[in-house]
Amino acid sequence: MYLLGVTGGIAAYKAAELARLFVRDEKEVQVVMTPGATRFITPLTFQTITGRPALVDQFWVSEGEKVRHIDLAGAAEVIVVAPATANTLGKMAAGIADNLLTTVYLAARCPVVLVPSMNEQMYLHPAVQENLARLRKHGCQIMEPASGELACGVSGKGRMPEPQQIAAFVRAVLTGKDYQGVRALVTAGPTREPLDPVRFISNRSTGLMGYAVARALVERGAEVILVSGPTALPCPAGAEPVVVETAEQMYTAVVERFEECDLVIKAAAVADYRPAVAAEQKLKKEFSRTMLELQPNPDILEELGRRKGERILVGFAMETEQAEVHAREKLQRKNLDLIVLNDLTVPGAGFASLTNQVCIINREGQAENLPMMPKELLAHRILDRVRPLLSAHSGGA
Ligand SMILES: Cc1cc2nc3c(=O)[nH]c(=O)nc-3n(C[C@H](O)[C@H](O)[C@H](O)COP(=O)(O)O)c2cc1C
Repeated sequence: MYLLGVTGGIAAYKAAELARLFVRDEKEVQVVMTPGATRFITPLTFQTITGRPALVDQFWVSEGEKVRHIDLAGAAEVIVVAPATANTLGKMAAGIADNLLTTVYLAARCPVVLVPSMNEQMYLHPAVQENLARLRKHGCQIMEPASGELACGVSGKGRMPEPQQIAAFVRAVLTGKDYQGVRALVTAGPTREPLDPVRFISNRSTGLMGYAVARALVERGAEVILVSGPTALPCPAGAEPVVVETAEQMYTAVVERFEECDLVIKAAAVADYRPAVAAEQKLKKEFSRTMLELQPNPDILEELGRRKGERILVGFAMETEQAEVHAREKLQRKNLDLIVLNDLTVPGAGFASLTNQVCIINREGQAENLPMMPKELLAHRILDRVRPLLSAHSGGA
């Protein structure tokens, strides 16, 4: 269970979105609010999002419960306090337990993530800084506040980071840095094959899956190169972006960097064919019918399979018929270690969807069907399967 502590800061409203993200990641979420937090956002909001009453009262015991703060402390996999006020940080640092949240904190032994959020002058006050240093010494993970416009009207450091960033930080704390020392290359997005200066052939890939994999790798400590076709997505912070357009450009970008990598995850939807001729001028509307001559693009994955050596190679397959048979054949032919098979027939999976349902097949031919889940979560599930393969090779950390 994730225990989300919410304190009486102006950013408390953002904690509702954080709770929603945890729920979306299939976590059970128990919100504990300070009495001050209830002046900013109501327990009802959290109850509606998490499906559990948000707890405030330290001295109220429900049926079947023994000692509420001890039960909560024991059940928590992680405590995340967001926003964490100067007041609550001070109390935690000093070991004061005068409300349910501060009492649970003292009783718990799980990882604790604190997200300070306050006016810049307050944040920089030596008392607050000393409390943060003390909390770090006690083992808490402190997430640096962001800089920008603050609710008090001035600009400065102290803003609560966006819920997405906090969720990523929490995930990184819990998974640990098990990819530290691994150099990974991820490809993502579609390619565009020009017909003329204004038109191209492409596909429906949005890059969501590949970007989620790149982000998950960064969170887990890998050095990441993200070779991407055109997408509307920002490169995950910490990854090195390489932007390409055509399959040939992607081929060159990947082959150039392949040598220095331990792991390659190819999530891009690369066009198999390109127009044999890309016209220099815009094609005129002259014909009632016309033929388009196509020629094959280089097969990036097959080439990498040939040069593989000790590297781990993961491919994606997207089939519309006899999916597993084709995926197994691709895994063998391209010398892959794992193949992730997208099921395009399932609603909510595949291109442009925030969720995906896949089957992961390994070299031994074993297939594992995973349930439908958000792509961010799936990225971590894939990395969980890849990690032991890296350890088996000398290239891994
Ligand atoms: C409108 C308003 C906004 C506030 N925003 C913050 C804030 O962002 N950060 C902070 O540390 N304190 C903030 N405070 C002060 C806290 O609410 C106050 O210190 C309170 O005692 C915190 O209690 P708690 O830590 O138990 O929730 C704010 C107070 C008010 C009235």
